[in-house]
Amino acid sequence: MLKAVRGTRDLLPPETDLWNQVEATVRSVLARYNFHEIRTPIFEDTSLFARSVGEDTDIVSKEMFTWEDRARAASENAQSLSLRPENTAGVVRAYIEHGLDKKGALQKLYYIGPQFRRERPQKGRYRQFYQIGAEIIGPPSANSESPARDAEVLEMLATLLDKVGLRGWGLQLNSVGCADDRTRYSQALRKALQPVVHQMCEDCRRRAETNPLRVLDCKVPEDQPIIAKLPRISEYLDEPCRQHFAAVRSMLDAIGIPYNINERMVRGLDYYTRTTFEFTHGDLGAQNAVLGGGRYDGLSESLDGPKAPGIGFAIGEDRLIMALQAEGVKAVQKLDAYVAPLGAGMNAPALKLARELRRHGIRVEIGDEDFRLKKSFEGAVRAGAKYIVIVGENEVASGHFTVKNLTTGYQVQVARAELVAHLGRR
Ligand code: HAM
Repeated sequence: MLKAVRGTRDLLPPETDLWNQVEATVRSVLARYNFHEIRTPIFEDTSLFARSVGEDTDIVSKEMFTWEDRARAASENAQSLSLRPENTAGVVRAYIEHGLDKKGALQKLYYIGPQFRRERPQKGRYRQFYQIGAEIIGPPSANSESPARDAEVLEMLATLLDKVGLRGWGLQLNSVGCADDRTRYSQALRKALQPVVHQMCEDCRRRAETNPLRVLDCKVPEDQPIIAKLPRISEYLDEPCRQHFAAVRSMLDAIGIPYNINERMVRGLDYYTRTTFEFTHGDLGAQNAVLGGGRYDGLSESLDGPKAPGIGFAIGEDRLIMALQAEGVKAVQKLDAYVAPLGAGMNAPALKLARELRRHGIRVEIGDEDFRLKKSFEGAVRAGAKYIVIVGENEVASGHFTVKNLTTGYQVQVARAELVAHLGRR
């Protein structure tokens, strides 16, 4: 039997009802904050990810689905393409490509879609997974660097998680400083690692040379005591970065958003500057980050674009849904009515009635004139309908329909003109 490829999966109803409910809530919350949707391709030139996410990150060095596209002409080289492992790089590429900086204002863009990473599949970790993400990016003249944007994004996330019904989340907050701070911090890490790195895993030994910050991502248990003693990023922030972070924290305090400072959290992507964050959830096990994000003030320039500071996040939708399910959240998608044609020739009048009801927003399933009454009732119950509406010859002639509430068992005759109001009661 052919099966879905390892690390990928099918999403089926009724779970997809919950996905759609979450996405609808998210879209409406994002609209209130003046975000608009952007859709970028699911594959890009490989160098986009190497230059943004970073050549030495796990994502780019180990986890991308990459292939050589056939050269279009003998004179051309084959192009290396990759399925997107994340969406921030694509958004910033589009920002530059379409000259969105020239609009002057902040761009508030969001996306919902699949991302691809060749990770070892486990609970909450897939090779095709879905992200709901958003980015605020713009020229310095639009104050895109302001800590007020960081606070706005974090406040929005708190609101968004509340609105989709998630409880029990925690916000982990850190600042990784600007490029200069990271250079000084990297030097300090390199120095501190020198006498101990030979005791560490192979990845750490390599990273201690190439990109010491990535050592902090290491998950190998034996390396943790060494990592715990390494210098802390907060000691290397310059005065503007220190002040920026203090301003973000004081705004969060003022609006009452709780957070923990987590200095080990440097995030697994190289483009971050200053504020970084993750929202975690207790029911997710080892993969406990529901979402992650941060500032990337130099990303546009590193892709040859204009100066365009930005901040954003991506929610792991698979994990958000898993956390909601763990808390018992279900989609409220109840079928209002089951229209049951009773007897030969009743399919057409039943369809006509269903058409009227559906046009008025009533959720309707329809039976078949070949079904006996018993089978129609069974069908209505199986479909989860609140009411069954019988369409027989008498009903059609009189314009009054037998309507039975399948929960209470209460049965009444309802005039055609009253049906929408009767069935639509929620
Ligand atoms: P990220 O931390 O790599 O950040 O991913 C964000 C979220 O995507 C994670 O917190 C997790 O919930 C989910 N996720 C990541 N990998 C997987 C996987 N293999 N299976 C299931 N879920 C996964 C980013 O991607 C950045 N682009 C976020 C961002 C936007 N930063 C600034 N703007």
